Parts: sequence; C-alpha cells; structure tokens
Amino acid sequence: MIVVNNQYPGPLIEANQGDTIIIHVRNDLDSGTGIHFHGINQIGTIWSDGVPGITQCPIPSGGSYTYNFTIQQQSGTFFWHSHLGNTQADGLMGPLIVHNPTDVYIRGRDYDHERVLFISDWKHLTAQTIINGTFTEPFHTKYAGLSLPDSILFDGAGVFNCSQAPTNAHCQQKPLPEIQVQPSKKYRFRVINPGTEAFLTVSIDNHPLNIISADETEVLGPFGIHRVLVPIGERYDFIIDTSQGKAGDAFWLRAQFCAPNFLAVPPGDTGLGLAILRYVEDGMAPSHQLPTTNDWSHPHVNATSCPDLTSDALVPAIKAEAPQTVSSTWFLDSVIGFPLTPQNVTILDFYFNNVTWTNLPYDPMLFRMHKGLSLNESIVAHTVFAQSGAADIIINNRDVTIDHPYHLHGRAFYIVARGQGALTPESYAKLPPSSSVITRTTYAILRIRTDEPGVFALHCHLGLHLVHGKMAAIVVQPQAIQNLAIPDAAIHLCDSCNFPPGVTV
Ligand code: C2O
Repeated sequence: MIVVNNQYPGPLIEANQGDTIIIHVRNDLDSGTGIHFHGINQIGTIWSDGVPGITQCPIPSGGSYTYNFTIQQQSGTFFWHSHLGNTQADGLMGPLIVHNPTDVYIRGRDYDHERVLFISDWKHLTAQTIINGTFTEPFHTKYAGLSLPDSILFDGAGVFNCSQAPTNAHCQQKPLPEIQVQPSKKYRFRVINPGTEAFLTVSIDNHPLNIISADETEVLGPFGIHRVLVPIGERYDFIIDTSQGKAGDAFWLRAQFCAPNFLAVPPGDTGLGLAILRYVEDGMAPSHQLPTTNDWSHPHVNATSCPDLTSDALVPAIKAEAPQTVSSTWFLDSVIGFPLTPQNVTILDFYFNNVTWTNLPYDPMLFRMHKGLSLNESIVAHTVFAQSGAADIIINNRDVTIDHPYHLHGRAFYIVARGQGALTPESYAKLPPSSSVITRTTYAILRIRTDEPGVFALHCHLGLHLVHGKMAAIVVQPQAIQNLAIPDAAIHLCDSCNFPPGVTV
C-alpha cells in the first residue's frame, strides 16, 4: 500500500480555525500526485486545492511541493487525500481536524475524549491493477466496482479469513481492531469514510449514537439512533455515553456495506466489518475476550435500505439561510455510458453533459484562466459563473442503478430542492433540503455563493467513477482569476508536467 510518513492512515493534521497550515510533500511514488484537503474552502488559496488538471500540475515523481493555506470560517472533521488516479484507494490519505472555541460541542464540557476513526473498504488488488482492468475488460468483471471489497478497515486494521487467501499468500490471523474506552465517560467519535466504493452503516451494539456533526456542519441531533450511514467522502461525528458498561465489557463495533449502492451481496458474504469497543480501567489486565453482543434490537436491523439516519433528520445547530436569488444556473446531466475500446470491449464510463473527464495532467484549468486562455471544451464538463452573488447547479442523475456521493470543492452548497426524476429548466422548483447523495433518477439543486474566484471541482467520490470521468468544474469570476496571486512554486510545478499530445500551455 501507499503510506505517508510510514503510516496508514497518514498523520493527523490538527489545527485551530485561523491557523495557517504548511505541508511539505515529497513524492516518492513513481507517479505524480496532488494532495486535496477535503472540505477545506481554500479562501484566497484555490491553487492549494490539490486537483491535478483543475488547480495544479501534479507533483512529479521525485519532486516536492509545499501547500500553504489558512483555515478560515471553518471547523470540524475533514481529511486529506491524493487526487490523481485512484491512489487514494491504496492509502494516500489522513485526517484533518479543525477546532474553534465557538464550536457548539467542546471537549471537557460536552464530551470527555475524542477519537478520529477512519472506516473504509479495502481491496487486495492495487488501485492501478483495478483501473487497468476497468479500461481493458468488460464492465461486469470483478474490476468494475460491482464486486465487494475484500475487507473493511478500521484505522487501517481489518481481519481477513486466511482460508480464503490465495495459497501463496503469507496470511496470518491477527486480533480484531480494538478501541478502548473507560466507563462513565462521553466519547466523541469523528467517523470518516475515505473509501472508494462502499457506503457504510456504522453502529455499536447497545450504544445509541448522538449525532453532533455532519461533514463540517454541527447539528443538534438526531440523538439516540441505531446506525449512521456514512457515504464515501462524508464525515459524521457522534457522542456515545459509556455509563451502561463496566470495565471488562466488550461490544461489537460494526461497519457494513449498504446494499443499495451495490448490485447484490453474494450469499455467505455479509459485507460486515467488525471491531471491538472494549471497556478498560487503569491497571486492568489486558483481555482478549470477544464480545458476545448482538446487533441491538431495532425495527430496521434487517432492512437493506439503511434507514436509520436520514440526512433529512439532521438539525443544523446554526440555521444557514441560502441566498434568495441567483444570477446563473447550470443544468448538469449525469449519465453512465458504455463505450467500446479500440479492442472492441465494452467498458463503463461516466458522463456529465456528454463529456467524460480525461484524468490526465493537462494544463490546469485554473492556470489557463489565470493566463486569460480559453478552456478546452472537450476535456471536462464545465460552466462559468461570471458574477459575484449566488448560482444554482441542477444535477439530474439519469442513472437508473447508481447513487452518486457528489463532492464540491471550495464551497459549501445549500440543497434548496430535491426530488424524483429530472428537472428541466421549466420545472426548476423548490422542495425541502436533503443530503448530497443523489440517488437513482433523482435531481438536486445545489445553491452556491459565487463571491470567491476560482475553479472548483465537482465530482462523484466513488473512486472508479472519478477515474472513469465523473468530474465537472465550475469557473467562478474568470476576470478576477486573472488577478489571483498564484505563487511561482505552483506555476513551476507545470515545468515538469507531461502534457498529452494536442494540449498546450
Ligand atoms: Cu475528497 Cu475531489 O475529493
């Protein structure tokens, strides 16, 4: 796997709002990379957003680059990850936590301890092997993202049944991952799903979850729920109370694939990953007893539709009012396609407005705009919001089998409407807000402020969907982009950029 500073997940970046973060990246991989700080708005530093092709050239193999940005007006649970190819799937990622004294939930008052928890899918093939497979073999093979991952990892640790391992593998059974807690305390868990394929439902036997934050938005519940569905790229923070157990007790911490995003879970494979929540006390002898708890009684336990936390039930602590009027709109049609390769093989690609993004290190859009050049229309679906104010992005998901966890860089969005079917310019209307996961054949209207110049990536966070083209870009205030003070070091990264034929600086 890919490790950062010899570890996976990579090192925690922990900061206060207002801090300037400086990250020196030395790329020892044999391919280029770019590091994205997922959820951070990069106010005034959009060139630090880390997306090769959109906001920077890749940091070349053997090269170095320093990211430098200040965290403004944001706090909460974030993470960082590579944004080129699907190297994230091989481990190039780590958590990023931002505190703020005016946060609604404060350690020492609302909870005693906190714990960052990366929970994600894991495959035994490298991301590049899988990607190569998806470009050369029919889409329904094991590569195409329709098969289950091999394991679920909790902070990098998981257990695989050695009897299923290839005979030449050196498989050794290890203890299950374990989290230790003390009785009669309150623990804040910051759960991050940095995975590439699997939406996960997370629960702890006998422990109601009190939801306090969704992505970076602090919420006043719901409290006392059974499971939380964490789509890819999303973060949920919850508090559990450990006053119902005593030292020596152990409970299962469960993370299970949410079936709707997959064709089917094969018989015998429950798609379930397990870790242990163990109650300990100072001076206690270590215990290796496995929990005997059951998935606690709940009417939805056997449902396959993951109903426990719907994002509609989230109660924002501070009610954010969306801008009332917009100056521009953009309709974005999302469809799956089945192109033929030159070898006559049907593969799977993803399109926005009939464009499938070519994930190559071409001249970054931000730099083209900075130089006043035009954009290459066929490389990525994009729009230009010229004025400062607000704009609506209307995403119509026309895929009948796939839910997409969309992620917008650089800006938070308000979901001002959501519904079944597709929206036409005529039927563009208002409904209650909901989550950023856009389910099959539904639409959502994302309203953004356009007060900050930049080029913002908008994409599906499923690793293979991104690699197969599900990327769009929003250019905000192109005139102002020409005046951005992009540092020389960022521009010079492109000196060693290998542009594909036909694309010039
Ligand atoms: Cu977390 Cu564009 O990504």
